Amino acid sequence: MIVLVFILVLLTFSNVYAEKFSQPVDSIPMLQLVSLPYDYDDLQPVISERTMQLHHGKHLQGYVDRLARYIINTPYNNMPLSRIVIMSDSSVYDQEIFDNAGQVLNHNLYFLQFSPHGGGEPQGALAKAIVNRWGSFEEFKHAFTQNGSQLFGSGWVWLACDHEGRLYIVQEPNGGNPVTHGLTPLLGIDVWEHAYYLDYQNRRTDHIDAVWNIIDWPVIEARYEATGVSDNCCQTAVEKMWEE
Ligand SMILES: [Fe+2]
Repeated sequence: MIVLVFILVLLTFSNVYAEKFSQPVDSIPMLQLVSLPYDYDDLQPVISERTMQLHHGKHLQGYVDRLARYIINTPYNNMPLSRIVIMSDSSVYDQEIFDNAGQVLNHNLYFLQFSPHGGGEPQGALAKAIVNRWGSFEEFKHAFTQNGSQLFGSGWVWLACDHEGRLYIVQEPNGGNPVTHGLTPLLGIDVWEHAYYLDYQNRRTDHIDAVWNIIDWPVIEARYEATGVSDNCCQTAVEKMWEE
C-alpha cells in the first residue's frame, strides 16, 4: 500500500513537473534569462557547474541582452519569439536579430529539457513514433549522436516533428532552429564548443553520449503531445501496403 501511494505521488509530481517545464516556448518571457528547474551543479558530471555558469549565466544572458537591444522600436518587438526567428530568417537585413532570437529560442528549449534524474527512454506516443521511424530507440540515439558529431563548425542537432507527427533529425548551423522549416523542435543538443569544451575539450561525441543521461523525457514527450499530433501517421510504407 505504501509503495502504491509512493508511486502515485511520484507520477503526479512528474506530470506536474513535465507540464511546468514543457510550457510552449513562446510563453517563456524572451527578454529574461530563463529560470532553471535545477541548480547549476545538479547536472554534474555530465555538465559541470562552471560550464553552466558560463553557458546559462553568460552566453544566454548575452543573447537575451542583444535581442532586446536589436528589436526595440522594430516590428519584431511585439512578436512571439518563434515568429521573430521565422520572420528574420527570411530577411537579409535582420541577420543579427535572427542570430540572437534563434539562440534565445534554442537555449530556452535546451536548458528546460534536462534533469539530474533524467535519462532512460521516452514513453507513449513519442516512443512509438521513434521506433516507427528508426526501428529502435538505440538506432535513433546512434543516428542523432552521429549527426551531432559530424556537424561542421558550430550549431545544433534537433529532434523535430512535422504537422503530422513525423519525426526528423535536423542539423542546423549556428543559431538555426527547425521552426524555419515548418517543424516543431522537441529536443536540441548544442554542439557549439561553449557547451562542452571546458568539460570534454575536443571530444564532442563523448559529450553527446553523456547528455543522454540527463534528458528529461517527460518534457520531450509533453512537447510532442502538445503539437496535437498522433503517431498514427508514422506507420511505415510497408505497413500501409499491407493494409491496402
Ligand atoms: Fe550554447
